[in-house]
Amino acid sequence: MRKTHIVGNWKMNQNLAEINSFASAVLDMNDISCEAWIAPQAIHISKLKELIKTIKVGAQNCSNQNSGAYTGELSPESLKDLGAHFVIIGHSERRAIFNEADTLLNEKVLKALENGLKAILCVGETLEERESGEFKTVLKNQLLNGLKGISSADQENILIAYEPVWAIGTGKVATPEQAQEVHAFLRNELKSVEALEASRTPILYGGSVKPDNIQGLLENTDIDGALVGGASLKGESFKDLCQLSK
Ligand code: PGA
Repeated sequence: MRKTHIVGNWKMNQNLAEINSFASAVLDMNDISCEAWIAPQAIHISKLKELIKTIKVGAQNCSNQNSGAYTGELSPESLKDLGAHFVIIGHSERRAIFNEADTLLNEKVLKALENGLKAILCVGETLEERESGEFKTVLKNQLLNGLKGISSADQENILIAYEPVWAIGTGKVATPEQAQEVHAFLRNELKSVEALEASRTPILYGGSVKPDNIQGLLENTDIDGALVGGASLKGESFKDLCQLSK
């Protein structure tokens, strides 16, 4: 009932030559049953859409405003105009490097939804938070604060990504058991969000996902896909991830 989503987060990577070779590698990608999405740098959204028709393209961030004097910001309305399908909100790099806090992230979620974009709200604990034993409180706050004010009409447009910060770009993937435990916890917390049906809301896992560990993760009932950084950059690897995902 919940479709598997494989979402590539290219971060600030991939020049045009690399995008072209990625596109050639995935050209023959067919017979996949998952949703295959990529978030390139926003300046490459149109190019990627033009090159690859089988993949839905989105952004890695957006503003909490549609227009105005916000130099350097990325308007969700303009992203929609450009044909973006979704936007990633609250990635741990945005939270840690750009100091984005829950209130701002909630405004971004609402603005993205208002513009007809799907929103992937990311939550995740640091190693310190995990070891302190407080990580479930951290995750619950990020989740519930990020979803404030959404309406039941948004059900189809909300996805959650659980990305433990200690697993991102480190090669240290959470074990399927660790990931499943948190996903079940998050799904249970989603029950308190009146606008959503927890059982219909996709929860993706992110953090060092690769073709050789994706199946073990996806076998778990509450893991509905993956948000993938490094292993989404090469076309062959992204294709493998999608083909291994049922
Ligand atoms: P990674 O990144 O797959 O390279 O660990 C995941 C992410 O940051 O979304």
